[in-house]
Amino acid sequence: MTKRVFIHTVGCQMNVLDSEMVIADLKRHGYTVVDSAKEADCVLYNTCSVREHAEEKIYSALGKLKNVKDHQPDKTIGVMGCMAQKDQQTIFRRAPHVDLVVGPGQLHTIPEMLQRIESGQGRQMAVSLARKDGKQSIVARSHETFDPLRDPGMRPTPFQAYLRIQIGCDKFCTYCVVPNTRGPEQGRPPEQILAEAKVLADQGCREITLLGQTVNSYKYRDGDDTSDLADLLIDLHEIDGIERLKFVTNYPKDMTERLLRTVADLPKCSPYLHVPAQSGSDEVLRRMKRGYTVGDYLEMMERIERFLPEAAVSSDFIVGFCGETEEDFQKSVDLIRRCRFKNSFIFQYSVRSGTKAAQRFEDDIPRDVKVRRNNELLAVQDEIAKEDNLKFVGREVEVLVEGPSKKALREMSNDAQADDGDEDNASALIQMTGRTICDRIVVFDGNRRQAGQLMDIVVDDASCHTLIGRVKTVDVVSIGV
Ligand code: SAH
Ligand code: SF4
Ligand code: F3S
Repeated sequence: MTKRVFIHTVGCQMNVLDSEMVIADLKRHGYTVVDSAKEADCVLYNTCSVREHAEEKIYSALGKLKNVKDHQPDKTIGVMGCMAQKDQQTIFRRAPHVDLVVGPGQLHTIPEMLQRIESGQGRQMAVSLARKDGKQSIVARSHETFDPLRDPGMRPTPFQAYLRIQIGCDKFCTYCVVPNTRGPEQGRPPEQILAEAKVLADQGCREITLLGQTVNSYKYRDGDDTSDLADLLIDLHEIDGIERLKFVTNYPKDMTERLLRTVADLPKCSPYLHVPAQSGSDEVLRRMKRGYTVGDYLEMMERIERFLPEAAVSSDFIVGFCGETEEDFQKSVDLIRRCRFKNSFIFQYSVRSGTKAAQRFEDDIPRDVKVRRNNELLAVQDEIAKEDNLKFVGREVEVLVEGPSKKALREMSNDAQADDGDEDNASALIQMTGRTICDRIVVFDGNRRQAGQLMDIVVDDASCHTLIGRVKTVDVVSIGV
């Protein structure tokens, strides 16, 4: 009998990719994917530990399944991802009806563990070693991911894919759990990455986003040879069918001239650079142990400007980190004003057990102050983004069309007549969305058939997050046959 699986994914792109792999694997083991926990035989949560809020939401969702499990004891409930690695047995303690806990390094064991649960062997747990549990190479091996399995059907858009080039992180920013949940930094071998990219291109994928926590620190050593991100981009650029290459997330210290020159030289490389600053205050950056000063960050911005004058740079900021004064916070506001980021993700500091910040510093900024600083920083960022987006009005941009916009999807779900398979529907005029090579979101009136195509759009208007445009009309020339 086929089994039905439901997967709920939160967290970063790494988790989105991991879910895609797990589903591909389960499909090969006879599972089908369903849209709700209710109709599933197996419910999986792919979790994130980066902030407390993300964890509490999962614990609350698990709590709600308690009743369901009482009525349907055969329904399997699994927790995978970073919270599984971080909390381990605590998950069974807080949610005793959970059957399965699997860290990001053990996802390949899921089908086998589900089998064991089914055959009455009880709860299962598989997690990686902690940093202190053994030799670095053994710990690293326990965190390795399983990447070559792909399922284009699981991607929101089959012509776009994530490709992991780096596992883990060794930067140990004092606030961050990722070096513990994802283990030591390891670059995947270039041959594996290239082989995977070729498979993706054969599946019709046109845009690949390379993933790593500090993707531009990527290194792979083979004897005396060392490959870096620039080398990888040069090789990936050769693959037919791949039209766009992006990479996230960047670490400011490793944004080298060579990498920027490579991006500038290779037309398929997106000049979109997500390089989190985290704070505009040297004091705060020092306590965060980010390894650079505001001056270093500004020098990096100058380098980007020199090699890639058209680049779109985006950032992350944490507000309310331990000891952040009003003056420190104003320096983050100033940095956003100086750098004019395309967008910034702004987070309120959340103390994480097991991190250096949790051990060394007091989480002394009250919640209401964190909220106010968050809103103020976002308002400044939005104002700048809108001003810069408005500069696109009247210009033509090339867009990789992704599909119906959120607005169109909302309207369609309200419309009882909507039917995916309907031919008329495929050509009906709806709001579509796509992205420029600089990662700007563009909406325009079009139809579903345009998904996956590169199209020229004329921009008519803009908001802080979106360019609003129309398909460039081409003069029709009649050719005699
Ligand atoms: N590897 C990436 C980011 C990983 S986490 C990098 O180094 O840039 C994504 C973002 O979450 C971080 O950039 C940071 O802004 C935020 N973050 C991480 N830990 C946090 C914490 N304890 N509280 C609040 N935000 C946090
Ligand atoms: Fe966390 Fe810092 Fe590593 Fe990013 S670089 S994952 S913020 S420790
Ligand atoms: Fe969260 Fe893990 Fe990603 S903690 S941000 S899902 S690496």
